[in-house]
Formats: sequence, structure tokens, C-alpha cells
Amino acid sequence: MTNLAKAGTFEIGSRTVKRFGYGAMQLAGPGVFGPPKDRAAALAVLREAVTSGVDHIDTSEAYGPHVTNQLIREALHPYPKELVLVTKVGAKRGPQGTWEPAFSAADIASQVDDNLRHLAVDVLDVVNLRIMYSALGPAEGSIEAQLAALMKQQRAGKVRHIGLSNVTARQVEEGRAMTEIACVQNLYNLVQRQDDALIDSLAAASIAYVPFFPLGGFSPLQSSALSEVARQLGATPMQVALAWLLRRSPNILLIPGTSSVEHLRENLAAAALELPADALTALNAI
Ligand SMILES: NC(=O)c1ccc[n+]([C@@H]2O[C@H](COP(=O)([O-])OP(=O)(O)OC[C@H]3O[C@@H](n4cnc5c(N)ncnc54)[C@H](OP(=O)(O)O)[C@@H]3O)[C@@H](O)[C@H]2O)c1
Repeated sequence: MTNLAKAGTFEIGSRTVKRFGYGAMQLAGPGVFGPPKDRAAALAVLREAVTSGVDHIDTSEAYGPHVTNQLIREALHPYPKELVLVTKVGAKRGPQGTWEPAFSAADIASQVDDNLRHLAVDVLDVVNLRIMYSALGPAEGSIEAQLAALMKQQRAGKVRHIGLSNVTARQVEEGRAMTEIACVQNLYNLVQRQDDALIDSLAAASIAYVPFFPLGGFSPLQSSALSEVARQLGATPMQVALAWLLRRSPNILLIPGTSSVEHLRENLAAAALELPADALTALNAI
């Protein structure tokens, strides 16, 4: 059994993916804006991910903008049939790289078309509707209008499955009352566990939960307890943080981001990392 297979699989809608995927955001230029410093290196990371068995890649038109989608196309098209590309709508980039909400029906329609064109596919496997009511994180407010706009794109045959991102539990409930929600993508990691109850309720409903910033995002995780567990296991703190997420709940799918083949290999090796009970206890207490 390969390392990735050891982590098992889970469903995103009708697609089964390995629980260990890859997040492409880090492949764009500094600040997720503009082209990568080293295009060949970015393409190499994507190819290495897929040849290592990754079958779930997270992306967005807003990364670059357009840059990660174009890199994915250049590196991987024609895509292996098992590869699931998950993209997002709901945000656009300002001329200086600011992240701005963009979720009118016209915005969503044009973002779906941009994703289709840049990824060179006829239908998008999964599109996450990213809610942006606050710059600080999920904030309450109805998502009905934007979700209805994305459902229209689905009825037009351009979107297979719909997910939600940066949402509250109430917004997930609102979305599930409107349509089938295939996955939820929110900020969650070893030290930011505000979604614990949501993860459990989604697990009970067999809906995938995909934490973004699984390694802490732009400020990678730092914890003396994490470092100590890693030292005892002969692993790196990043590997332990990923292994902990895999243990946290069976519906968690990983999409750690990296622009480096070395870090990619290190991260993927975490799929086979076992966490003994005392390590789990120490990590749960962080
Ligand atoms: N829905 C949303 O709103 C949203 C928001 C943010 C992100 N996302 C998605 O979630 C994915 C994951 O988040 P993320 O990439 O921002 O953050 P992340 O996975 O938590 O961490 C990425 C950072 O960790 C570093 N890193 C990765 N592996 C490492 C290792 N083994 N050792 C040391 N450093 C390592 C990377 O630097 P190097 O490049 O140097 O390895 C990068 O700076 C993104 O790629 C994106 O697809 C979604």
C-alpha cells in the first residue's frame, strides 16, 4: 500500500478522493499575486503531487489571479480521470492584489466561465462558494442569493458539485436546505479549532470538511508541544500537524500548500505517520 493510500479515502459529492490532497495557492507569486518566481519549479510541484498519487487539487481563479489555474492546466492537462479539481468563486483581486468580494450573479457566472477556460474543462468537478462578509473570517448573513446564482450555473451543466467556504454553521444549514453541499472549506488546524462542532456535524452527514491553512497558512504553526511530539516521533512538526488532522475526523481532507517539491514530499509522507495515544493526548491539549 502506498503512503497516500494509508490515509484512506472520502467522498466529495459523487467523486471519491484520497484524504491527502494538495492546495495550489502557494504556487502563485508573492502575496498570491502575479506569476511564480520559478515557473518550472511550480510545474514540477504539481506533477510530483499527481505522480505521488494525489487526486484532489484545490485552486481558485483568484490565485494570481488566474495563475494557479493556468499552471495546473500546463502541468497536468489532459487530466488523469481520477483527478478532482476543486475551485472557488466569490472573490476577485484588485489591481494591487487586494481580495474583494465578487458574488453578484454576473460575477459568479463570469468566474465559472473563467475557471472552465483556464482549467480547460467542460464542467468543473467542485466549486466552492467563498463567502466574504468580513475580512476577519466567517460572519453571519444569508447566502441565498449567491448560492442560487451558483446553482443556476450547475443547472447549466457547468458545475458538478457545490461546496461552501468561509462559512458559519448557520450558513451551512441554509445551504443544505437549498441544495446538496459536497464539502465545506474553512480555516482549521491544530491551534485553531473553532469549527470542532461543525466538523462533527458534517461527519455525521458524510460531508467532507477541507481545512484551509492546515499548516497555519502564511504564518506556519509554531508550538513547543507540537515540536516535542515531532521530536519524539522522529517526524517534523508539519507532518505531525497533518497526521493529527487525519486522526481528528474521517471526513477531513487535507490540502496543504507548498511551492517546494521537498516540502511536498515531506508533507505527503505524513499520510503514513502513526500517532500513538500519548502523542494524541499531548496534541489535543494544545
Ligand atoms: N477557501 C479559502 O478561503 C482558502 C484560504 C486559504 C487557502 N485555501 C486553500 O488551502 C490550501 C492550503 O492553505 P495554504 O497553502 O494557504 O497554507 P498551509 O497549507 O497551511 O501552509 C502553507 C505554508 O506552509 C509552508 N510549508 C508547507 N509545507 C511545509 C513544510 N513541510 N515545512 C515547512 N513549511 C512548509 C509553505 O511554504 P513553502 O511554499 O516554502 O513550502 C507555505 O508558506 C491553499 O493552497 C488553498 O488551496 C483556501
